[in-house]
Amino acid sequence: MNDYHRYVRAGKFEEMWKECDDPWNEKGECYEASPCSIATKYLIRAQDQVTTCSLGSGLGRHLDWLNVSGCGVELSETAYRTAAFLYPWLTFEHANIVNFMRTNTMAFPNFLFREILWYILPDWAEVVDILKTKHQGALAIVELSFYDNQKYGLDYFNGPDDFIAKWPFTIEKIVREHTTKQQREGRLMIAGRVP
Ligand SMILES: C[S@@+](CC[C@H](N)C(=O)[O-])C[C@H]1O[C@@H](n2cnc3c(N)ncnc32)[C@H](O)[C@@H]1O
Repeated sequence: MNDYHRYVRAGKFEEMWKECDDPWNEKGECYEASPCSIATKYLIRAQDQVTTCSLGSGLGRHLDWLNVSGCGVELSETAYRTAAFLYPWLTFEHANIVNFMRTNTMAFPNFLFREILWYILPDWAEVVDILKTKHQGALAIVELSFYDNQKYGLDYFNGPDDFIAKWPFTIEKIVREHTTKQQREGRLMIAGRVP
């Protein structure tokens, strides 16, 4: 059973991870085939400080693939426990992103939001404020997929162009993976410094 959308729509991520074995095909995803993910890895590893905080880290496979020290933050206890079991050399926190950002006192040089923005839209403005208040100079990276027939979230970000226009940090890198001629569907990667 892998119909995870009804759980996502209801914000029931713990129930989803209990019911669905691998909702986003995380176990089978080929990061090397994604220019966005390759750019993320390159940007982080090209720096002196590679420690990365991955918000909404799922089963932790992508954070491990980056091959850096890091901390994953995950809302679902099931996903958090699985990640901590699979990757004991990384650190994982069982927390809601916005609560973690409010209380965290560690100065991470890199913050990664990979395929998570649609799920934290009402909290994004506060997360941005916290980054600007507590983490100036950090590298913020978002990877996010958009869809031609998408309905959800358009009042916040009406496609990749709008997301780029509203990007609240400096721009160091933009990568776009277009999967249709409309140049809307596909994954976007955008990265920049927190001013
Ligand atoms: C699409 S998965 C992405 C996982 C990972 N970042 C990746 O790219 O492979 C989104 C994850 O974010 C988690 N999540 C959703 N809302 C969250 C929140 N408010 N705080 C922390 N994690 C959240 C979900 O449980 C899920 O594991």
